[in-house]
Amino acid sequence: MKIAIVGLGYVGLPLSLQFARSGVTVIGLDIDPEKVNAINAGKSYIKHIEGPVIADQIAKKAFSASTDFSNVRNVDAVVICVPTPLNKNREPDISYIIKTGESIAPHLHKGILVVLESTTYPGTTDEDLRKVLEKGSGLKAGTDFHLAFSPEREDPGNPHSVVATIPKVIGGLTPACLEKTKELYGKAITTLVPVSSCRAAEATKLLENIFRGVNIALVNELKVVYDAMVIDVWEVINAAKTKPFGFMAFYPGPGLGGHCIPIDPFYLTWKAREYGQNTRFIELAGEVNTAMPLHVVHRVAEALNNDKKSVKGSKILLLGLSYKANVDDDRESPTYVLMDLLKERGAEISYYDPFVPVVRPTREHPHWAGTKSIAWDKNLISSFDAVLIATAHDAVNYKELGAWAKTVVDTRNVMHQVPNPTAKVYKA
Ligand SMILES: NC(=O)c1ccc[n+]([C@@H]2O[C@H](COP(=O)([O-])OP(=O)(O)OC[C@H]3O[C@@H](n4cnc5c(N)ncnc54)[C@H](O)[C@@H]3O)[C@@H](O)[C@H]2O)c1
Repeated sequence: MKIAIVGLGYVGLPLSLQFARSGVTVIGLDIDPEKVNAINAGKSYIKHIEGPVIADQIAKKAFSASTDFSNVRNVDAVVICVPTPLNKNREPDISYIIKTGESIAPHLHKGILVVLESTTYPGTTDEDLRKVLEKGSGLKAGTDFHLAFSPEREDPGNPHSVVATIPKVIGGLTPACLEKTKELYGKAITTLVPVSSCRAAEATKLLENIFRGVNIALVNELKVVYDAMVIDVWEVINAAKTKPFGFMAFYPGPGLGGHCIPIDPFYLTWKAREYGQNTRFIELAGEVNTAMPLHVVHRVAEALNNDKKSVKGSKILLLGLSYKANVDDDRESPTYVLMDLLKERGAEISYYDPFVPVVRPTREHPHWAGTKSIAWDKNLISSFDAVLIATAHDAVNYKELGAWAKTVVDTRNVMHQVPNPTAKVYKA
């Protein structure tokens, strides 16, 4: 079997490698020639994927990359893993899916299977993508070619998350589309979870991410409430999670980050309006989570105040720029929001992150582009008025931080592992 995977990012690249390892010949398609060249040279651009793993599959000719979409003519299936962000008005932007549909449509042939993996609202596959594919190919979905949706369940930074062993939900346009999809993923994935339609599969992914967003909002709210009652929310969560049933631990933080949890729930909110439905839990969770960075900034101000200092003029070090521990992905990271809020209040900002040595240019935070991580150095760390832990990478030496820093504001409860630090430590 030969397949094309479109979009060689955090989702498409590991999926390509999994198929290649399973005996499927994979041609990766991307519009970014730098990524294509890197892959063909056996190099990785994603921290947790090692270059030699790519080089191995390239050498075996099981995997190659290209910018030429006419390769679709020679494959049995196309899997689409392109971005689905929100636009400026926080509405779904499915333009990447549409563009991909337009690029592959002229090359579709009878019997081919097209699967969308990008997270999106119910109806994207069987309405929006289907229309573009049928228009550009002159073929009919469900009759001439097969169409399906299967959401990705990637957990970056988790060493136990292996593509092959994560059960995969699949939904087809017709029963025959579902059968084709089973045949495809059955080659590389151990457990398949068929559902009745593309829409049910799309809705499943949204439920998973909404569940996280709402529960994180709940513990963020409880953090503020319990803090006012002088109760440590971390102690409470750790005690509650000993319950062997009916409880799942979620942890508070400085605000939501990444390309999924802050974004995906609003895909449903937008689509629900078409049906005259409100998504109150999603919006309330969004409100609570969005308020977190400001809450943290107030805690930094209180900590400085205890040292007779103001935020204005203080030197503040942000620890952790990526949105979650042990990854190099800084998309939608709340650390940028914290840096902006503190800078607006007159603080002098630096950051330390072993995974992000320099800030890449981004659409959302162009003013931080080129800023470099400081070095991990005793004199440097002790020169800051406060250190704010936004993301707690395992590679950071928190014992040294506790010994070197004057004041630490900890949003991740990571300093609890340091006995008797000389720094003043505040939870936020
Ligand atoms: N990263 C995750 O952990 C994760 C988990 C589950 C679901 N998802 C979803 O998967 C989808 C992809 O996410 P990602 O994190 O892999 O994104 P990414 O930004 O890492 O990768 C997307 C890739 O698509 C390419 N691309 C963009 N437009 C293209 C086009 N028209 N044709 C071909 N290639 C194009 C980009 O160059 C990039 O290489 C999104 O819908 C996301 O919400 C991501």
